Amino acid sequence: MRMYDILLKKKRGQELSERELHFFVEGYTRGEIPDYQASALLMAICLNGMTERETTDLTMAMAESGEMLDLSSLEGITVDKHSTGGVGDKTTLIVIPILASLGLKAAKMSGRGLGHTGGTIDKLESIPGFCTELSREEFLKTVKKTGAAIAGQTGNLVPADKKLYALRDVTATVESIPLIASSIMSKKLAAGAQCILLDVKVGSGAFMKTLEEAKELARVMTEIGNRAGRRTGALITNMDRPLGYAVGNALEVAEACETLRGRGPEDLTEICIRLAGGLLQLAGLCKEKEEACEWARAQLKNGCAFAKWKEMIAAQGGDAQFAENPNRLPKAEKKLFLFAEEEGYIASLNTEKCGEASVLLGAGRERKGDPIDPAAGILLKKKPGDFVRQGDILAELHFSGKVDPTAAQEILQKAYSVSLYKPELSPLIYEDLF
Ligand code: URA
Repeated sequence: MRMYDILLKKKRGQELSERELHFFVEGYTRGEIPDYQASALLMAICLNGMTERETTDLTMAMAESGEMLDLSSLEGITVDKHSTGGVGDKTTLIVIPILASLGLKAAKMSGRGLGHTGGTIDKLESIPGFCTELSREEFLKTVKKTGAAIAGQTGNLVPADKKLYALRDVTATVESIPLIASSIMSKKLAAGAQCILLDVKVGSGAFMKTLEEAKELARVMTEIGNRAGRRTGALITNMDRPLGYAVGNALEVAEACETLRGRGPEDLTEICIRLAGGLLQLAGLCKEKEEACEWARAQLKNGCAFAKWKEMIAAQGGDAQFAENPNRLPKAEKKLFLFAEEEGYIASLNTEKCGEASVLLGAGRERKGDPIDPAAGILLKKKPGDFVRQGDILAELHFSGKVDPTAAQEILQKAYSVSLYKPELSPLIYEDLF
């Protein structure tokens, strides 16, 4: 088999066989196929697309390129969730304790912030002492003991995606549904859970800017998961406004703690309940959506999810006192207020710009490996639909003495638009695919 012939086939829009896709993924992972040929194939896939069969075969080849986590030693049903990335998305910190408090097992591998979107690992590391680098044995031991563990992706999991993602990033081939779906689903399949819920975000702060694209991505990913024998579902959710009010690592942990105590913002609470409810349905614990959501809601009200969260923090070396008193989490040296320049309703808030502003304040990275400031970020005081008078505080910017906040302030000011009329807000959850 020759890579040249595979390229020619895809360039002509023909379907690649399972053997050809394995040949490519294995050869590229081993370093036998050069970047220039892999780039050409990625571009041909971007331009000509892939059938569902091809996307599934590509995903399986990628998943099998390294170690596949075996969760069979965990007693109980294993669950996993994945968000395609958003601003202020701290749902994992809430959904996983809800599910673990109901007896499900979550061996959750999470990532760091990417571009304008935040990452769960960065958020958790703002809790003093919390360790996200666990060996395979420690990871499974922690899940056995507490029902859940959240760690960075370790070892040799999906090496093909590591190489391909880096290549896509520099060859303008990130935006392709088969490539995004195979990248995400190969990692989910390798992580081993029986039930997978995908939170596909759509809107100004998401990868997917239109509902049609988001629906297609969700459909392709659920198909891949189900074909691979995992119970897979998806929610398509709104990222036209940040989730909750906090954007930035320690600020988001504090908001997650409040939500776990049943005192969180309405949008964040609702979405977490739907995500947890979705997984309860996929796990077969509840038949109906309403019943599943009631179970999840009850865990926030009765304190069980919060108790589980504290147990999880302690099990990973963190100080659970921070959950009781989130005011003790890292605090920014400086604060600056953003004021409304005119009276009216907040018509929209460009969420990508909001994420960019928080990165500039130090909450995220411009380049992989850059340090971040756990205390930096934005606390929104007004969101779309709210009425403001001139001079009202729109947001608080949190940053260290080493940061000049001018650019972030300008970006955030422009991200808000004010109108005389109360806007009609788009729904928080567009659709569920089960
Ligand atoms: N997240 C991933 O893991 N892969 C993609 O291709 C896009 C988002």
